[in-house]
Parts: sequence; structure tokens; C-alpha cells
Amino acid sequence: MRLELAHASPESVETPLMVALVAADRPFEDLRDLDAASGRTLSLAAASGDFRGRSGERLLGYRADGNGPRRVLFLGVGNAASAAPEELRSAAGRAVRTAERCRVTSLALCADHLSGSVDEAAVQALAEGLALASWRYDELRSQPAADGCGALEDTHPPMVESALIAGTRGSGWEGALARGTLFADAENWARTLQARPANVATPSHLAAEARRMADEVGLECKVLGPGELEEERMGALLAVSRGSREEPRLIVLRHRGGKSGEAPLVLVGKGLTFDAGGISLKPAKGMEKMKYDMSGGAAVLGAMLAVGRLGLEANVAAVVPCAENLPGGMATKPGDVVRTRAGKSVEVVNTDAEGRLILADALDYAKGWRPAAVVDCATLTGACVVALGHHRSALLDSDEELAREILAAGERSGERCWRLPMGAEYRKQLDSDCADLKNVGGRAAGTITAACFLAEFAGDAPWAHLDIAGTAYGSSDRPYLRDGPTGTPCRLLLEWLWARAGR
Ligand code: BES
Ligand code: ZN
Ligand code: ZN
Repeated sequence: MRLELAHASPESVETPLMVALVAADRPFEDLRDLDAASGRTLSLAAASGDFRGRSGERLLGYRADGNGPRRVLFLGVGNAASAAPEELRSAAGRAVRTAERCRVTSLALCADHLSGSVDEAAVQALAEGLALASWRYDELRSQPAADGCGALEDTHPPMVESALIAGTRGSGWEGALARGTLFADAENWARTLQARPANVATPSHLAAEARRMADEVGLECKVLGPGELEEERMGALLAVSRGSREEPRLIVLRHRGGKSGEAPLVLVGKGLTFDAGGISLKPAKGMEKMKYDMSGGAAVLGAMLAVGRLGLEANVAAVVPCAENLPGGMATKPGDVVRTRAGKSVEVVNTDAEGRLILADALDYAKGWRPAAVVDCATLTGACVVALGHHRSALLDSDEELAREILAAGERSGERCWRLPMGAEYRKQLDSDCADLKNVGGRAAGTITAACFLAEFAGDAPWAHLDIAGTAYGSSDRPYLRDGPTGTPCRLLLEWLWARAGR
């Protein structure tokens, strides 16, 4: 989506749709010109008590004659002072959905009614809401009928292609708008990678996409195939991949934007392109959703895209282990013992607990950089969906300070987390009769024992793990999202990196 700022009074902007954000605790009088331009929709609705500016309230008016906006949408955001970034992201999403319903491809938005409450974070959130809401996955559809009567007409209105933020401009708005657009574009790319079916988005496809992206934005990119993975003794990643004819890949990306020799911030993402469970086969119902098991990897690739485009002043590295988990004659069997890159042996009690295996080798690989901090993200456990549902990701970590940073980045981005405990009492559940540890710790505390497994391979640097099994995809109640992939936690990671780079 194209996004621009314009210093113009909203009632004079030529647009098919002007969206005015309305604060419940400010005089509606301030909107008298737009009210007049919309046939007095606002004052009449306010007088009858139908519109009070509360969060999510909407009111659509039309201009009878003259120039300026053809439609005016008044959108409540609640009290101005408490209109947090997430409220504005949602309002921007509602604006785009209204444009779609009106079948217009551009809109303008004005937040002047919130006056002093619009800061850089607010402008960034508006940009994010607009850009995220306009994402759609259409690349595998045939064109709808050219006469406009195709079956997809109702469900697939024309894309909203551009938006203008109109009104009085504050300082720093250009930068905030650019950053919001960049973060959302990066997350939208992650969503596209997620949305691709597993027969398209194979490990080698993700590696090719990473390479193309790295060339475009100036990152170093290295891709390891089966031979190199053998040389690296990545027995856990190879063990997961054995049942599939698709070759595994390890994607490695580096951005050197900080001082030379400065320890890098490292991102690790699970790139399991399809999780059938392996020999511990999953039930058929809902298995198609397991194409999303590479969501952590997609979010990390998206974050690296933005890191490169921004030229972030920090050293950042990323590792995305990619494989497909299928049953087959060559597949790893329950009870098999595999040797990880770190040298620890793992009894594979359940081949469906494969994410922690491929992450073990990736985390160990990252240790070689002596990182300043490591953050991994993965659709790791069904238990996480039971614990937190679809509203928050689970955060498990080895470091208080890093945990605070991640929680804060979650709040800023709206990709919120909830911290869960770890400890020796949980780690004991992974004790094995025949190997250094086993890959499952029973039903109890499944998200925690999975994180304990990862902790064995994460090294000494501050480390945080995000279990995104419940947040990476699904039917969202957020106005700026749709059913399907969310890109989470791409923007959270970017907020964290942005803060760590000292911005
Ligand atoms: N990819 C799944 C986790 C998952 C489940 C993600 C539901 C999204 C939605 C993971 O590889 C898995 O299968 N985990 C098992 C672990 C168990 C065997 C210990 C699980 O959670 O059932
Ligand atoms: Zn699995
Ligand atoms: Zn999985």
C-alpha cells in the first residue's frame, strides 16, 4: 500500500473516502467542517445519541454536492488520552474494511480530533493498521471475471492501494510513517510466505526467497544443504527431515550495521514447512494448517528484510532451520536416538515434537557468534494454544532484562506476550533412560518442557523463546487482520531490535 502525509484540511481533500477519527472526550464541534461536508451526519447522530465516539463506533455520511470527500466515515476511538497504538491500528483497519465495502481503492484519514495525543507511536500505528489491513493472499487464484460479475466479486473487492494521512502534521511524522509502513510491509511479506501451501513453500523455496531478499536489501546470506548439514553434524535437523523427499536447508543471514566485532543480536525461527507429525502421525482434521509450521521462520525472514532496508545500526544475525516432517520408509522412528550438533544425544520419543529438534541445532549454530542476545520464535506446542489461546504468545527466557524488553516490544507492537516460568523441576521431565534427554516431557506443562529442551542448546547469552502456536495464524478479531496468517512476531522483533539499536 502507498502511504503519504498531506498538510490539508480534511473537508477539502478529493477522496472517495475520508475517515475521521473521533475522540469521545473532545468536543464534536471541532469537526464542524467535515460534519457539514457529510450532510450533518455527525451532529444529527450525536444529537440523537447514536454516535458517541466510543471505540469501534462508526458512522458513514455522503456529500451531496461540491468538491472534497465523496464519503465521510466517522470512526470512534474512545477517549483521546487513552487511545493507545493498538486502538489506532484497529481504527486504521476498520477504515480499510469500510473502503473495501464501498469498493474504493484509496482513502484518506484524519486524526486531528485527537490533537495532542497523536505522537510518533500513533502515526506508526496508523501506518501499520492501514498496510496490514490491505494485505491479501491472491497469488494462486485465477482472475475474477473481467465483467465484474465473477463469483469472487463480493468476497474479493478491489484492493485498497493507497492512503493519505491528512490534517495538521506533527514533528517526526515522516519517519514514523515510513517506519510503520516498513514494519508492516515486512510482516506482510512474512504472511505471504506463511500463506503459501507446503507444496510451494518447501525448504528450498524459503531458502531461495531468503537469498532473493538478502540480495535486494544487502544482507549476507548463506544456505546449507544436506551435505553441509552433515559436515556440521546437525543430526537433529537431518533426523526430522529424513522422512521427506524435500531436502532440508539452514538459512543464515547477517547484517553488519553495528561496530565491527560487536556481538550480534540473533534471531532464530522454526521453518518447518509442513508438519504431518512424522511416524507419530497427526490426525487428519486440521492437518492442512500445519503448512503454517514455518511461521517463526517467516517472521524472522520478514524482520531481516526490514533490518536490511532500514540499515539498522546494529549487528543482527538470523538462523532459520527448514525441513518437512513426514512419515516414510526413511523416517526417524519413535525411540530412535539422534546426535545433535551440540553433541548431546536425544531420544526421540515422539516424532511430532520435531520443532525443538531442528531449533536445537540452529541455536547451537548461533552460539558460534557469541551473541549479545538470542530470540527464537516457533509454533512449538499445542499446549501453548490451550494455555493462552490466540491472544498472546508465550515467552520463556533465561534473563529478566531481556524478558522485560520483549514484553515491552510486545506491548508496543500489539503482539503481546505472557511470561511462563522455567526451572529444574520441569527439566526433570525430559530425563531419558538411554540418552542425554528425550524430546517430550509428558502432557503436563508442555510449553514449558519444550522451552526447557531448547534451553539445553541456547548457550550462555541472554535467551528468549516465543511460542507462537496460538498467534501465528487463525481467525483474528483484530480489525487490521484477516483469517489466516498474522506474521506475528515480525513487528515485535523489529520493535525490540529498533530499541536495542538505541533509537
Ligand atoms: N507444530 C506443532 C505445534 C502446534 C500445534 C502448532 C498446534 C500450532 C498448532 C508441534 O510440532 C507439535 O506437534 N507439538 C506437539 C508436541 C508433543 C508431541 C509433545 C504437540 O504440541 O502436540
Ligand atoms: Zn510436530
Ligand atoms: Zn511442528
